[in-house]
Amino acid sequence: MKAIKYRGNNLYLENAPIEKITKKVITPFYLYSLKQIKDNFNYFRNSFKQTNPLICFSVKSNPNLTILKNLKKLGSGTDVVSIGELQIALKAGIDPKKIVFSGVGKTTEELDYAITKDILLINAESENEVNEITKIAKRKKCRVKIGLRLNPNIDAKTMKKISTGGKSDKFGISLEHCLDIFKKNINNNNISIEALSVHIGSQIKEIIPFQKTLNLIDKFIQKLKENKINIKYLDLGGGMAIPYSDTEKKFNLKKYASMVYQFNKKHKFKIIFEPGRYLSANSALLVTKVIYIKSIHDRNFVILDAAMNDLMRPALYGARHEIVPVQKIKNKFNKKIEFVGPICESTDKFLTYTNYPKLNQGDFVCFTNVGAYGRSLSSNYNIRPLPAEIAVYKNSYRVIRPRQKLQDLIK
Ligand SMILES: Cc1ncc(COP(=O)(O)O)c(C=O)c1O
Repeated sequence: MKAIKYRGNNLYLENAPIEKITKKVITPFYLYSLKQIKDNFNYFRNSFKQTNPLICFSVKSNPNLTILKNLKKLGSGTDVVSIGELQIALKAGIDPKKIVFSGVGKTTEELDYAITKDILLINAESENEVNEITKIAKRKKCRVKIGLRLNPNIDAKTMKKISTGGKSDKFGISLEHCLDIFKKNINNNNISIEALSVHIGSQIKEIIPFQKTLNLIDKFIQKLKENKINIKYLDLGGGMAIPYSDTEKKFNLKKYASMVYQFNKKHKFKIIFEPGRYLSANSALLVTKVIYIKSIHDRNFVILDAAMNDLMRPALYGARHEIVPVQKIKNKFNKKIEFVGPICESTDKFLTYTNYPKLNQGDFVCFTNVGAYGRSLSSNYNIRPLPAEIAVYKNSYRVIRPRQKLQDLIK
């Protein structure tokens, strides 16, 4: 994680010594570098400079209001998947004309609200949804711009649980059915299908699945043209991977950018991206305290005050988040160690290490790269308050969302 380094024995996030913050803030807490998010956004935008896409940050990866306001200032739009995400995006000041709405189960209330707010696109994921939008638009006497989300049946070569573009996945509409919906709605006065969208999964490390997707879209566009159907927008979703450890390869964003540019020279669509993880993941740490160390025959359990409810990805997908000590320690444990949380579930465990620095009760460690699907996936399981979100500011910090209060949970 680029934004952290040791100065002497102390771990810093940007210019802020983390230990100093642990003296003031209750652990566990999420600690962000807003500068890293800005750098990521600018890197993304510069990489795609020739295509000049609309970048719609995927709010589900991190819905923090301050983060959204910062992204708004950089010119970002948002990809939302619920009325709550839509409302927080609007509250952050995101231009409705830069908001796209995805999801397989948008309710009538959610669709109605999105139509009222006149957002850029509602990406429909079934024919029933298209019909529902038509019904609402008819009632409101308006014409709504929508997109259709394709299910391209492409293996994203990522974890099964975060793949979304296979033919048995619930997402999107098959090519044949999509064409059929386009044809049926040519003369629909209440909707105008102006976009195709696709999102085949998350944490996709290789370029090939994206290349296959573009090839398939190219053929599909041909079919649309044969039927005298033209679209204006192509929404290519998100899914670009980040390295979760120093040994993992970086996703080749520049190569992907050049592929998209070549593809779009012919089509001249307004390209939309919906990156989540790529913009937010490496911006944050989850800072946590060692409550106890318990030794058994073959290992030491390092029991943390952060649990699966605070950081769900390991329990949910088997995801790996490296853990680093806040203070450098010379001595090593003489057995392997397993980091675990305090929750009464066997899945409340994190990584196992050999040769790990010899932590003591009361020491602090940080989970790395938790800015995406970290706090946003957390829950109140075991009546545990959701952790605070803090952003480093110069050599100190600011609270960007306070820790939930226990008394609010036991009303
Ligand atoms: C429709 C859609 N767009 C964008 C994203 C963001 O994906 P990522 O965080 O991998 O960029 C997701 C996440 O799964 C999604 O479902």
